[in-house]
Amino acid sequence: MKNHIVIRNKINNFTKKIKVSSDKSISIRCVLLASQAVGISKLSNLLESEDVLNTLKTIKKLGISYKKKGNVYYIYGFGLNGFNTEKKVIIDAGNSGTLARLILGLLVKSRNKVKLIGDKSLSKRDFSRVIKPLKLFGANIKSRKNLLPIEILGTEYLRPIFYKESIGSAQVKSSLIFAALNTPGISIINSKKSRNHTELMLKFLKYPINVVKKKEYDLISVKGLNQINNFEYNIPGDISSASFFIVLTLLSKKSNIVIENVNINQSRAGIIFILNKMGADIKIKNKRMYKGEKIANIHVKSKKDLKGINCPANLNSSAIDEFLIIFLVAARAKGISKFNDLGEMNKKESQRLDLAIKFLRSINVKVNRFKNNISIHGNPNLNLKGKFEMKNFLKDHRIFFLSCITALTLGGRWKIFDKDSINTSFPDFLKILKKVGAKIN
Ligand code: S3P
Repeated sequence: MKNHIVIRNKINNFTKKIKVSSDKSISIRCVLLASQAVGISKLSNLLESEDVLNTLKTIKKLGISYKKKGNVYYIYGFGLNGFNTEKKVIIDAGNSGTLARLILGLLVKSRNKVKLIGDKSLSKRDFSRVIKPLKLFGANIKSRKNLLPIEILGTEYLRPIFYKESIGSAQVKSSLIFAALNTPGISIINSKKSRNHTELMLKFLKYPINVVKKKEYDLISVKGLNQINNFEYNIPGDISSASFFIVLTLLSKKSNIVIENVNINQSRAGIIFILNKMGADIKIKNKRMYKGEKIANIHVKSKKDLKGINCPANLNSSAIDEFLIIFLVAARAKGISKFNDLGEMNKKESQRLDLAIKFLRSINVKVNRFKNNISIHGNPNLNLKGKFEMKNFLKDHRIFFLSCITALTLGGRWKIFDKDSINTSFPDFLKILKKVGAKIN
């Protein structure tokens, strides 16, 4: 079966109301926390993408059962460290860094050895960021050069840690919070700000976790060995998925979109702030709170006069997965945009910063790079003609999405490979694009 798509035309003007798929970070955390709860948890609107399905498969391999009825997943937890494995098991995190890092935190007390593997992209990613602090708890972890496969064997003799997490990685922070759940005493993580879904969920579950917010760091204390009660959660839309439709609308002519029911947690919503600073007119309406998370509808209109930005690096973590698509806006804005300190982008599903620069240059955009800082020379008249081909991007789903939005807003005749990469995070992407009016073959 063919695994590429062809886009030959820009999208015509549109006025639409859409929903995007459910939040991936929250879906993975819900499944993992439900696996540690006592009793049956009910998760509605769980994202059914490969990363989340691999999370479900993983808990199943670790002895936790679940079933789906209608729109609801029922997960049967046995409490903290309630995994029930007899012999050495192999769990496969596929493409998901979040699953791989978070599950290691939950396995620090595992009675049996567990081997963690992943796909080609995940097998290139560095795990020292979690291996080092998890060893401080006392867990036995073996790997070659901090890469997958990793073997972990838990211990009864865990000790609480004080750890300064200075990458600003929510995966690392959450892995350590998960390890702290199984550890007696109070573990303290001084964590550079990053998405805070894990903390919010534990708070809503009335688990003893305390967060003192400082300017750049959050001081998080977690008291181990308390019970997590079963819970219900209705997962909202993912702003990372919404971001592609926000930019599609912004860069198209005379178009409007409303994206309903999106999580706009401040630690995720950097893109809205950045694009509005660039002259966009993105409005947040119908705001409401759900279990500590902020949800809203996002209203976007096309905008002609966008201007460059000198993007403050303290916004990096709240837009970390969105920079690819923000760069496209910078390419169409007036003036030079600067983005600094983006080395973390090269630690994702692909070396995204390197690929982004290559991509922008291939569509005639001038980009300068100094270490992990880049400047993009925008051109409001940027219009593409001729043939473009996107392949060899390590099946990074976000590069696929970026290529589609570029084709639909800037023109050219595009052949984009590795269509199946969308299944990791946003399987309905092409269906929704077509609903908005895109012609895709
Ligand atoms: C995620 C955290 C981010 C993000 C990833 C999902 C999470 O990674 O890029 O897509 O759900 O915790 P880092 O924690 O490595 O920054």
